[in-house]
Amino acid sequence: MIPHKKVYMYGGYNTISLGTGRKEFNPKKERPGIEHYISEAGNGVLKQIGGADNVDDGVIGNFMAARFNNQANLPGFLPMIDKGLSMKYGTSVEGACGSGGLSLQTGIRNILSGSDVTLSLGVEVQNTMKAIYGADVLAGAGWFKKRKDGHAFFFPGQFSDRAGAYYEKYDKERARKGMSQWYANAMENARLDPTAQEYHNTNPNPYQACLKMEPNAKFFVPNLNVLDCSKVSDGASGIAIASEEGLKRMGVKPSDAVEVVCAVAATRDITLDPIDLTELEAIKYAVQKAMKEAGITIDQVATAEVHDCFTIAGILTVEALGLAKRGEGCDFVAAKHTARDGKFPMNTSGGLIGWGHPTGGTGVHQAVTIWQQLTGRAGDYQVEIPNDRPYAMTINMGGDDVTISVIIYKRG
Ligand code: CAA
Repeated sequence: MIPHKKVYMYGGYNTISLGTGRKEFNPKKERPGIEHYISEAGNGVLKQIGGADNVDDGVIGNFMAARFNNQANLPGFLPMIDKGLSMKYGTSVEGACGSGGLSLQTGIRNILSGSDVTLSLGVEVQNTMKAIYGADVLAGAGWFKKRKDGHAFFFPGQFSDRAGAYYEKYDKERARKGMSQWYANAMENARLDPTAQEYHNTNPNPYQACLKMEPNAKFFVPNLNVLDCSKVSDGASGIAIASEEGLKRMGVKPSDAVEVVCAVAATRDITLDPIDLTELEAIKYAVQKAMKEAGITIDQVATAEVHDCFTIAGILTVEALGLAKRGEGCDFVAAKHTARDGKFPMNTSGGLIGWGHPTGGTGVHQAVTIWQQLTGRAGDYQVEIPNDRPYAMTINMGGDDVTISVIIYKRG
């Protein structure tokens, strides 16, 4: 969808992504609850946009607070952020790990239907249980009738099956090199962002660490090791979505914001297995549609935040973007083309593997990183945005290639 009037994003904020890896994380001690994360992210945005009086409405993306936190009715937390949000329209949206992307898509639609400023948030607090129990909660993103056939670690299992198909069709050794480089890039980038879950990671050779850890079905899943996986995370992100009028109200110059060039939301039938495990069909459809609608090619895109819930998802997304032919995404990544100093830097604040994956928050975190990169606010993880490549992209996925949000941005 090309917005029929100008839509901007501004004022992004991320809490830390808390979980194993962070020095502050201690599973035996009490930790902040979901209300803390919503409040911190919400206030982090409000401080940058002149307060809650400037906001018309709000939307919260969340996947499974009902099970991780015994909490539903999330719109009720918007007025808790600031009483200036009381009695305003609030909603929450769910599309599994794509919930944050749906929060952005909903915010964009709010602006197109007459609001001038929407507060878009995404949140998940998952460390309320160990990873193996959390895996059963996250499995809710798959079709429940199929879940009994899956692995105990359901989603690592789904993407292990994709990795296995890729190894068989192409070449396991080449694939593992690409996947290990993906992990190494994630660590390098996360170490530059103080809010990242792997910010404190000091492994001197993450590439070798991942390459040498042979996947082992007895302990985990057959074709992925634990370093191939995104984190179990607590965190929230927020950003303001605004019309031109809304920017004026907030006192923000368009050049300090990003403009939404195109927003595509696509869903694939959850009851059907992927046609081909070596392709992310819905992501490919959505990115190609977005670039066509925006009238741009991948050569004009400077950077992308992509849904690397597992290293293999990163490789398959490189192929879906058309950066490499099918079966060659692994080589493209192994050649460091997606590293921060490569020709197409991706996931520059660490992505889901390095920054963390508070599932319902991830899509919004991606938009915050793109806003920071395009407006020169990314601090130590800033990458160069060449003048002839002014566009950037976010790709957020719910389930196994089911609930997809692709947004193309340029500096306002
Ligand atoms: N309470 C108690 N102990 C805890 C804890 C908690 N909340 N959190 C961690 N710990 C403990 C662990 O039990 C472990 O201790 P032991 O070694 O004694 O068992 C220790 O801390 C280390 O924990 P780690 O998290 O480092 O390691 P792990 O083995 O527990 O988990 C992992 C590793 C299985 C790879 C886990 O990180 C994981 O499940 N990752 C994938 C998450 C995932 O699937 N996300 C969804 C992606 S799919 C997608 O994006 C689409 C969609 O819609 C779903």
